Amino acid sequence: MTKFRIQGGKKLQGDIKVVGAKNSILPVLAAVLLNQRPVVLYDFPNLIDVENMILILKSIGCQIKREGSALIVDPSVISDWVIPDRYVKEIRSSIIMLGAVLGRMKRAKMTYPGGCEIGQRPINLHLQGLKQLGVVIEESHGYLECEADKLIGADIHLDYPSVGATENIMLAATKAKGHTVIRNAAKEPEITDLQNFINSMGGKVYGAGSNTIVIEGVEYFHETEYTVIPDRIVAGTYLIAAAITGSDIVVHNVNLDHIQSIVTKLRDAGCIITHFNRSLRIIAPKRLLAIEQTKTYPYPGFPTDMQALLMSMLSVANGTSIITENIFENRYKHVPELIRMGANIRVDGKTAVIQGIPCLKGAEVNAGDLRGGAALVLAGLKAEGETIVDNIHHIDRGYESFDDNLRGIGADIERI
Ligand code: EPZ
Repeated sequence: MTKFRIQGGKKLQGDIKVVGAKNSILPVLAAVLLNQRPVVLYDFPNLIDVENMILILKSIGCQIKREGSALIVDPSVISDWVIPDRYVKEIRSSIIMLGAVLGRMKRAKMTYPGGCEIGQRPINLHLQGLKQLGVVIEESHGYLECEADKLIGADIHLDYPSVGATENIMLAATKAKGHTVIRNAAKEPEITDLQNFINSMGGKVYGAGSNTIVIEGVEYFHETEYTVIPDRIVAGTYLIAAAITGSDIVVHNVNLDHIQSIVTKLRDAGCIITHFNRSLRIIAPKRLLAIEQTKTYPYPGFPTDMQALLMSMLSVANGTSIITENIFENRYKHVPELIRMGANIRVDGKTAVIQGIPCLKGAEVNAGDLRGGAALVLAGLKAEGETIVDNIHHIDRGYESFDDNLRGIGADIERI
């Protein structure tokens, strides 16, 4: 079954719970390789990308088993340093395995992770940082062959606060001899989560969340149990599902600090949002207000991963909104699909101008990438009539049981 069928116009109600963050669990699974003792991970999301990362770990020797909502990983025996091509092609974020495998084996080989639906996705900052740690990297016949007699701490400045490059360098530096500094580091909450995980097993990483991270190399680690942070993008997605349908719902297991930029936009659009402990209640207005200007930036700016979802919401707001996508060069694939549903959107380079209309019309549309696909589902919840969203495998990469969860709060959606 590769499609969602949605009957729009239904109000949502009730409660929904957010699970662990995809963009935390992936680097944490890589970091497990630095250890030789078992690790228990709780509340990890059941996602295609996570399954593929687990398969990578198994393919190089990790023993992994599930016990309920816990994942038990035993990395004591790692038998290989070659990451199988088929997995690198499945999830390009497997690039962070380089730093982890190098940290453990001092060797690593993987095929060059290509671009993806949203852009070229270069890895120059990853490779530049690893080279500064003493890694010799040969790029030949489409492969990255990496070797380091010794990993030596270094003072590394990133031209751009790349999330993946920051994580890759943190992973390799954790096993490097001496002191590493990463300047102009990414400040996303998932970076802090990775720091906290590494330190939970005996690592010495400090400063994550700021633009300067310090890592002291460590030889051995001990067992640990860990729960990653809630997925801030999934939380934002459910909040926008309520906003676009004029609903009143409660979203549980949310870290409010991590979604301040999203909550601010929802309040600007006329939603009332209250929070108690780790839950947020959103009450949406009958008609949303347009938001004059939104630009995507690295954290704590408005996240690029929320851009498509915000656009769906603004396509039915009252007035004209402008969105500028500053992070990825090809992240407007959802625009022609929203236009098929009646949206009035004009794209000029990095900027999209959205003239809000009262209501969208159901249509057959295609998911072109993970967040764009989710945005089409949300548009379908609002649209009059039936919407069919095809290629939903993109959505399953980042949303656990997306249809079941939305149906649980009143959406008329089924997988066909
Ligand atoms: C991470 O991707 C996330 N993925 C992305 O989420 C997210 O959109 C992105 O960070 C930005 O927040 C995971 O964490 C698995 P970057 P990543 O390196 O690490 C340029 C989702 O939907 N760049 O910060 O690839 C790059 O071209 C996904 O969950 C270089 O130029 O993001 C891009 O323009 C999509 N050279 C910008 O930096 C490099 O060596 C952001 O990339 C690396 C990156």
